[in-house]
Formats: sequence, C-alpha cells, structure tokens
Amino acid sequence: MMTRLLIPATAGVARHAVDDNLRALVEGGGYGTYLGLGQVVSLSRDDEPIVGDEASEFSREAAHHPERYRPIVRFVRDLCDRAGLTAPRILDFGCGPAILSAMIARAIPAAHVTGVDLSRDMLTLAAGTLQSFGVAGRMTLHHHDARLVAREADHLADVVVSRNMLHRIDGLGDTLTRMVSAARPRGGMACFTAFRQVSDLGPAGQAAFVAAVRERRVTRDVENLVRSFVRAHLSAPSLEQYRKAAGTVARHLNVREVRVWAGNNNNVCLYFQR
Ligand SMILES: C[S@@+](CC[C@H](N)C(=O)[O-])C[C@H]1O[C@@H](n2cnc3c(N)ncnc32)[C@H](O)[C@@H]1O
Repeated sequence: MMTRLLIPATAGVARHAVDDNLRALVEGGGYGTYLGLGQVVSLSRDDEPIVGDEASEFSREAAHHPERYRPIVRFVRDLCDRAGLTAPRILDFGCGPAILSAMIARAIPAAHVTGVDLSRDMLTLAAGTLQSFGVAGRMTLHHHDARLVAREADHLADVVVSRNMLHRIDGLGDTLTRMVSAARPRGGMACFTAFRQVSDLGPAGQAAFVAAVRERRVTRDVENLVRSFVRAHLSAPSLEQYRKAAGTVARHLNVREVRVWAGNNNNVCLYFQR
C-alpha cells in the first residue's frame, strides 16, 4: 500500500501541523503500514474494555515491564507511610491484568488490594497474576464500570489508584469525582496515564516523533511512541482538560490538595488528597 508522507520537516513543527498530519495518516489507515508495523496500531476508539486477544497481549506485555509500575508502587507506599496507614485498603480502577495491583500488594504486606475492571477477560488474566504473585489471599477482583461508582462512595478504600484508564473515560470530571469519592479521609487518589495529546508534548517530543516517522526508524521505542501517540490523538484528554476535570472534583468534594502534573516519560499524573 502506498502511503503519502504527510509529516512536515521537524524544525519548527507547529502543533496544529503535527495534529493534522497525524490525523490524516491515521484516518488514511496507512499509519502502521507506513512504518512497517502492520496491525499494531489500533484504529478503534480507546474508551472501552480491553477484551480477547488484545487483553492477552496486553497482559503478556505488562508482565514483562514491571519497571513501568515501580514508580507508582513507590508513590502509593510513600503515601501510606506518610498517612500512617499500616494495613491500608487499596482500590485499583481499570486494573487490567492486575500487575500494578499485585505489585502494590507485595510492597505493602498488610494491604488489601481490590482490582476493578470492566473487562471480564482482563479479570480472568488478573486472577492468574494474583496466583503467580502469591497475593491472592489479600486481593479481591470486581467486574465494574468506574464511571458508575456511586458519587457518595466514601470509605471504599484508603488509597485509590488508576493507571492508563483515564484516557479511555468519557465524562472525565464526573468519573474522577466518583473515583476520588471512594478514598477515605487521610488517604488519597492517584491517577497516572501515559497517553497524552501530541500538542502537550512540547517541541522536543513532537520533533522526536516526527523524526522517527520521517526516518522510518521502527525500533521498539518508536513502536511504543506510535501506539501511544495515535491512541492519544484519537481519544486522550489534553493536560488542560485534566486540569478542568480536577477542578470539577474540587468543586464537588472535600479535598485538601489537588495536583496535576506532567511526569517523566510524558505521562500525566493527578493526585487528590482527602
Ligand atoms: C490500558 S489498560 C491498563 C491496565 C492497568 N491499569 C495497567 O496499567 O496495567 C486499561 C484498562 O481499563 C479498563 N477499563 C476501560 N474502561 C473502564 C471502565 N469504564 N471501568 C473500569 N475499567 C475500565 C480496560 O478494560 C483495561 O483493562
């Protein structure tokens, strides 16, 4: 298949130019093909449960990359230490195969961790993770939709976490409010997502992306870049939208501290202290 190269020169890339060109490539369906990646770039919207082969593939990949989860595990453990929570109840929304949940359970030996996901396939894979991590006795899995958690869900857990689910959620402010309301006073809610709008990456990030595409350097890093950028482009909120959603939470709930920031590796982090 012939795919026209629509990406402009790297120098001085304007944000709208990158966005428009990316959209053209994605909508033209030739993006993965152009890079020789075949089907790896999913063109479906990204705000639904992950099921079937995609769930299995996600689980395999996640299990090979504990380093992606370690900073979050440390964040949660520090949070519990600071709050004096020795046997915290922890809730992981959109737990997927529960690698993060299980790592948290291991890192905090007296914790009870509940994983919630909308995909039954993911929960089946998660059950296997709990066994292999030896933490099944201190974990519970639930099939539930994070968007439908009761707004007055107070006291479901001391600490609520979520990784790479928010970019899939419609009604971000409302869902965040529901998720934060599940965290007890003294505890908090921390969300992390690796998916960002191209426009939020800044000139260096945009230029790196454009250069990779122009030069057809299909390394593992580029593949990951392509996956996350394409997905981000299709459905991820911008940093500004995250900030607005955090404002919605603060208007509806008692929160002592709200932080929204761009972390390492271009991820977005949100923290609400109750
Ligand atoms: C990209 S995966 C991330 C999984 C896990 N948090 C991780 O970082 O390894 C997103 C997960 O969110 C789940 N999900 C999507 N929408 C959801 C919703 N509304 N409620 C609960 N889970 C949802 C998907 O089924 C999927 O397992």
